[in-house]
Amino acid sequence: MSGIALSSARVLLIIGGGVSAYKSLELIRRLRERGARVRVIMTAAAKQFIAPLSAAALSGDKVYDDLFSLTDEAEMGHIEMSRAADLIVVAPATADLLARMAQGLANDLASTTLLATDKVALVAPAMNVRMWVHPATQRNVATLRAQGVLFCGPDDGEMACGEFGPGRMAEPQAIVAAVEAALTRPTLLNLPMSVGKNANAGDAATLAGRHVIVTAGPTREPIDPVRYIGNRSSGLQGYAIAQAAREAGARVTLVSGPVALTAPPGVELLRVETAQEMLGAATKALPADIFIGAAAVADWRVEQAGESKLKKNAAGPPALKLIENPDIVSTLAHLNSGRPRVVVGFAAETENLVENARRKLSRKGCDLIVANSVAPGTTTFGGEFNAVQIVTRDRVEPWPQMGKLDVARRLVRLLAQSLDNHI
Ligand code: C5P
Repeated sequence: MSGIALSSARVLLIIGGGVSAYKSLELIRRLRERGARVRVIMTAAAKQFIAPLSAAALSGDKVYDDLFSLTDEAEMGHIEMSRAADLIVVAPATADLLARMAQGLANDLASTTLLATDKVALVAPAMNVRMWVHPATQRNVATLRAQGVLFCGPDDGEMACGEFGPGRMAEPQAIVAAVEAALTRPTLLNLPMSVGKNANAGDAATLAGRHVIVTAGPTREPIDPVRYIGNRSSGLQGYAIAQAAREAGARVTLVSGPVALTAPPGVELLRVETAQEMLGAATKALPADIFIGAAAVADWRVEQAGESKLKKNAAGPPALKLIENPDIVSTLAHLNSGRPRVVVGFAAETENLVENARRKLSRKGCDLIVANSVAPGTTTFGGEFNAVQIVTRDRVEPWPQMGKLDVARRLVRLLAQSLDNHI
């Protein structure tokens, strides 16, 4: 599926059972205004929230809702329904629907159609914030993302249940934009890595015209030509930030240590190995509006790396003299001229997270620290999820556990706002 205009697209909309189902009626209207044909499946729960008749009137077609209805199956089987669509949209995608999708269950028309399809699915989750951040839901989201399912939202905000946080269904116009982006993306499925798999057109070009430099991954400090000092950083969080900044319209330079990831589309990738090379590449990429140091830079390097492979001999193991590496975040934050307007550092700590992050903030001279715990039992390194606290000079904001791309998008939104406020 590549390059289908919204005006000639056939969208199969699955409406799940949630308070925000009423927004799906608006979604049908907006998709049809843009020329798309919309066919609607409603789950049994959805019918508790909105009348099928409303969806039928707005879509100009009957609403499909019963897997076992002989007429429906005779006229339009569930396989045929997914075949006749260019894209499947699930809105609202409830926690239950996401779980059934992730499990591959097929116990009603909606889930059967989703299982039988070879088309791309775009889901707009909507649920209580605690349900959204629950590890079970986040596992399902990661599973679906890894399968190439696209996500739009959820948004932050006040919810029908009175709580505040991520869980509100994206607004209909954001979903229409995501549908359009999904239809025109050339390769939606089988992208090589998880952070490249998500399309979210909800964050319009908030960083358009800005230059963002991101460092990511570990550094490798040579001991000799074959050995090095390294660390376990996967680069996932830094790559996700680069992707989110690009989605938000920025020009992005990603300075990356050795990782097994592919650069997000549209991002300029500069590969480096050592801390000194990383500093050199980042400095050369200036000027920038925002600098984000997400790399796990080695604090020390071997003063005299062997020019040839160190040999075992009777004198015993070599004594490696370590010297300190330059601090990239600190160097850029302390530039007298050409300092990026916003400098962001990361702090991975095993204890006293906020206190250490505060100290780091003033020592390194940065504007914001993204602090995360790497205490035993957490899966920050190499994992899909991250629970961070945002630390600035005057506040600390804990964010719920989220996928790394969601952390990245929220961070990018925050930085875009802070740039706007500076002007
Ligand atoms: O001091 P610490 O290594 O804990 O600080 C982490 C933060 O500083 C991260 O943002 C990391 O990218 C950055 N850093 C750096 N250069 C170094 C060490 C850390 O930019 N040499």
